[in-house]
Amino acid sequence: MKLIGPFKQVVTLANLPLRGKLSDEQLEIITDGGIVVDNNTIQKVGNFEALKNENPTIEIEQLDGEQIVLPAFVDSHTHICFGGNRANDFAMRNAGKTYLEIAESGGGIWSSVQHTRNASEDELLRTLLERIHFLVELGITTIEVKSGYGLDVQNELKMLRIIKKAQQETRATLVPTCLSAHLKPRDFEGSNPEYLDYILTQILPKVKEENLASRVDIFIEKSAFQPEESKAFLLKAKDLGFEITVHADQFTPGSSRIAIEVGAKSADHLEATIDEDIQFLAESNTVATALPGASLGLGEKFTPARKLLDAGAIVAIASDWNPGSAPMGNLITQASILATFQKLTTAEVLAGMTFRAAFALNLEDRGILEAGKKADFVTFKTNNFQNVLYNQGSVKAEHIYIDGNIVD
Ligand code: NIG
Ligand code: FE
Repeated sequence: MKLIGPFKQVVTLANLPLRGKLSDEQLEIITDGGIVVDNNTIQKVGNFEALKNENPTIEIEQLDGEQIVLPAFVDSHTHICFGGNRANDFAMRNAGKTYLEIAESGGGIWSSVQHTRNASEDELLRTLLERIHFLVELGITTIEVKSGYGLDVQNELKMLRIIKKAQQETRATLVPTCLSAHLKPRDFEGSNPEYLDYILTQILPKVKEENLASRVDIFIEKSAFQPEESKAFLLKAKDLGFEITVHADQFTPGSSRIAIEVGAKSADHLEATIDEDIQFLAESNTVATALPGASLGLGEKFTPARKLLDAGAIVAIASDWNPGSAPMGNLITQASILATFQKLTTAEVLAGMTFRAAFALNLEDRGILEAGKKADFVTFKTNNFQNVLYNQGSVKAEHIYIDGNIVD
């Protein structure tokens, strides 16, 4: 057992509702605070001196200078296992080329599939670990990672096995998701429903057998999978025991309905969601995940996070870090920019990157600094927590704690 502190401010995010809008006055901020950690778990949060007096012999981990502490962040949507890069797609998009033209000239998701298939396992593991390191340094200690650049049995399993291997090399929590339904690969001879059936019969049983992922994702979009075939697929994946998450309403509205109907844990993107469906999301337990990194990467509009929160939805914010639409990876910068354009309070942004995102991953043991939660937190060398978002990601995290211990 040890007492960590003193912190100028401990922003606990305790006692906040899971859904709906939040004002900054609702934030619990303990000044001159401390955190007692025992066995990877937070035991108590309170005034540093009071905690010290309660237990005069407690080991103290003294912090230097003025620091504030927040729950560590959760990135609930990434595609950070991939080979190659798509800098040329970015340049072509900015030069006015359409998605179709880019795909035809060798870019798009299919080009990442080829690079990922051709990459050695060592190379994929090394670059995945580099990206995990980048995220951890931002204060993100829980990271969802999707497959989806393999798109056949051998290569989807290769990706998921590498993600599993990466888990052995990092103290961050990785949450793998099977996204074999990212796109029907060009070399699959058959229809969309036949490819979805191939995933159900050839890929998912092996994913289960090897315990490689407990979540299944699909990209529902005109250029990928259609609503009805997707719904049938997701219901069957659910029957196999998988949790569901969906790439929904990115360019075309309608698929968030499917996510809700199949009881998905989250519907992610939602840039094109119509008002009626915002209401449906608000009445559901499906987390609405904004991906500002994709809006910034593509020059598209942002997810209507303000409307979703006002309607009462559970709103998370994730990076979508991938080689195509969201190459930046800096969730703090992206969330801060989303806040500016969508007029989100600091409380709403922090909740969206912590306990609300954790809920989307079924990890309700984290994202709040209170007794009983996993002792993952992030400190910043500043005297005011508002500076973290105000500086749009340029104030670097000072210490990242996982299970109560600093990550070097
Ligand atoms: O979330 N929308 C589909 N999938 C990814 C993009 C993947 C890629 O372009 O490689 C996304 O934006
Ligand atoms: Fe994505």
